[in-house]
Amino acid sequence: MTSTSANTAPPAHRDRLRYGVDAPAFPAALGLAGAACGLTARRWRRGSTAAAALGTVLLAGTGVYLHTTLRGKLRVWEQELDRAGLSGDERLLDLGCGRGAVLVQAAAHLPSGRAVGVDLWSGTDQSGNRPEATLANAAAAGVLDRVEVRTADMTDLPFADGSFDVVTSALAIHNIPSRERRLRALDEAVRVLRPGGQLLVADFWPMARQYAAHLGHGTLRDLGPRYWYSGPWLGVTMLHAVKETD
Ligand SMILES: C[S@@+](CC[C@H](N)C(=O)[O-])C[C@H]1O[C@@H](n2cnc3c(N)ncnc32)[C@H](O)[C@@H]1O
Repeated sequence: MTSTSANTAPPAHRDRLRYGVDAPAFPAALGLAGAACGLTARRWRRGSTAAAALGTVLLAGTGVYLHTTLRGKLRVWEQELDRAGLSGDERLLDLGCGRGAVLVQAAAHLPSGRAVGVDLWSGTDQSGNRPEATLANAAAAGVLDRVEVRTADMTDLPFADGSFDVVTSALAIHNIPSRERRLRALDEAVRVLRPGGQLLVADFWPMARQYAAHLGHGTLRDLGPRYWYSGPWLGVTMLHAVKETD
């Protein structure tokens, strides 16, 4: 299969890829708390060692978070899409695509296929989250011709049963507040997959375990430090499942 990764797009365009920061309030709060601890440690002697240590942990966590959201998750998905063994002509759906970190890379793996993203464009969940930003990234990666974005709720997908070969989702389903609706999103993902199609869902490990238990099959794999949102306590697990054939 010949495929061009969005990360290996022509150098003139690569610098235009901007995928934003996931849940931007979180690293901002973490960084501020770390700085406040550092200042406290300098001002007061009592407890200064503990405050300095906590400040260091919080600031290091902020750095890890930013690395994950700006680079690490892109590298991980590049590998996961390679591992999926796509033939290049699939129809792929990305749930909660945001600015296209997965969608655009997926399109680069599908020279004669199609990558469709759905989202509700929450700026709380990702900075600068707009369909125009996603399409601008697709254009910068040279895959605009095979990318489509739709405004839709992943708990109620506007697609027919079995209309996709692959469904992906990265750090999106956990944003749905209720467990019942998260599992409905998973049921929708399975509904729109064709029998034998692949489901790839990356989410925080307690959620991924919940999804696997709900499906009753599939494998779980820890995605490692490149996908830590500050530290191992907010690590990401990949659920990989193949839809059963009747
Ligand atoms: C943390 S962002 C991740 C975006 C992208 N998958 C990535 O990895 O960069 C989560 C995304 O899920 C979207 N989202 C949250 N709830 C949704 C829902 N019910 N239906 C569709 N999208 C949703 C948000 O708008 C946001 O774009």
